[in-house]
Amino acid sequence: MRFAVTELPEEGRNASEVLEDLAAAKVDDRDWRGGRVFSLVYSAGDAVHDLHGEALRLYSAENGLNVLAFPSIGRLSHDLVGWTSSLLGGDETGATGYLTSGGTESLLQAVKVARDAGRARGINRPRIVAARSAHAAFTKAAELFDVELVRVDVDDRFRIDLEQAAAAIDASTIMLIGSAPSYPHGVIDPISELGQLALDHGLLLHVDACLGGLLLPWLVEAGHVNVPFDLTVPGVTSISADLHKYGYASKGVSVILYNDADLARHQLFVTSDWMGGFYASTVMAGTRPAGPVAAAWATMQHLGRTGYRRLAEETWVAARRLIDGVGTIDGLRVLGDPDMTVLTIAADDGRGIDVFAVADRLAEVGGWYLDRQTDPDALHLTVHAGSAAAVEPFLEDLATVVAGIGDERSSDRSAPYATDR
Ligand SMILES: Cc1ncc(COP(=O)(O)O)c(C=O)c1O
Repeated sequence: MRFAVTELPEEGRNASEVLEDLAAAKVDDRDWRGGRVFSLVYSAGDAVHDLHGEALRLYSAENGLNVLAFPSIGRLSHDLVGWTSSLLGGDETGATGYLTSGGTESLLQAVKVARDAGRARGINRPRIVAARSAHAAFTKAAELFDVELVRVDVDDRFRIDLEQAAAAIDASTIMLIGSAPSYPHGVIDPISELGQLALDHGLLLHVDACLGGLLLPWLVEAGHVNVPFDLTVPGVTSISADLHKYGYASKGVSVILYNDADLARHQLFVTSDWMGGFYASTVMAGTRPAGPVAAAWATMQHLGRTGYRRLAEETWVAARRLIDGVGTIDGLRVLGDPDMTVLTIAADDGRGIDVFAVADRLAEVGGWYLDRQTDPDALHLTVHAGSAAAVEPFLEDLATVVAGIGDERSSDRSAPYATDR
């Protein structure tokens, strides 16, 4: 069976021709540069994307597996973990941590570490309690590492139901999960209360701040958010924060931090049980790209605190305008009173329009791209600094489309996560 789209040539081709083909290959890709893609891409502007490109080029061949051979990668990683830790209260708590390849890997590591900590306590198949809104990566982790994931419901504001979480704890339970914020509704779970529950039962508590970790500190500083979520909350044992989301870094960099060095040690893999000598690694991969590490370092240095404050303010203002604007459109509502800059739009029960049909129309009229989610059917918007200029045109298109949608139904009811073939 043939899977390839393009032939592998017998003779190699000219580099500039190949690059032209690559540029042309993007023809059907979503055009995110104008802010019309409310998903998957975080943009702090063209200058930052150009910087990514340069930094990736400088480190395209080096291998992050061995920081003895490439000590600069070790130093860059150390800086990234240290800066993130400072933003999340780690200086106060003495946190320690690692870089990973992204949010999913940080969550995989959190679960693997919890499993190993549970086994060290004699629990063969540890149990983890998370809300139904916690990221899908927790389910992936549970499958990969053979832990039992118990998902409990959310309350009417889409935050974890604390009574159900408490009731789900049993003798095998090792860890609770809180999100700051959750992906589906952009709301922050009650981390202080979860911390108390964890302390009462001697459990670990991981805060998934993959989405909020690089934005919430600035929103808290500006007085826009006052929900405690970081490493200083009593009971929190670890936290994850993605640099490739609101850190505006190039893809492939997240940070996981632990308040307890003994816990962190479970993430370290060391062996000499083969013929290749001593082998150590702190992540899932062996060979690791160094480019994303360099690009993240360059981005954080380039933006600095002032840059992040400015981007956070722009993003906050854009998100509030969107939330207010959606609220004025008859037939729509925003779910759950979002705490940050991620929001979800559902149909108002009264009119019962199909929001997926709205998304189809928005794509046609303006090239808008929004993720689709279910339970209830809703459209998901991640607002970032690059979205700001698109807010007013989006609200105009949204109002027009909703006014004319009638009882149209969409045939596309799935979130589009594809395979390589
Ligand atoms: C709250 C949360 N956790 C984890 C992840 C997974 O991150 P990644 O896609 O970088 O693996 C996401 C992604 O959107 C997220 O929003």
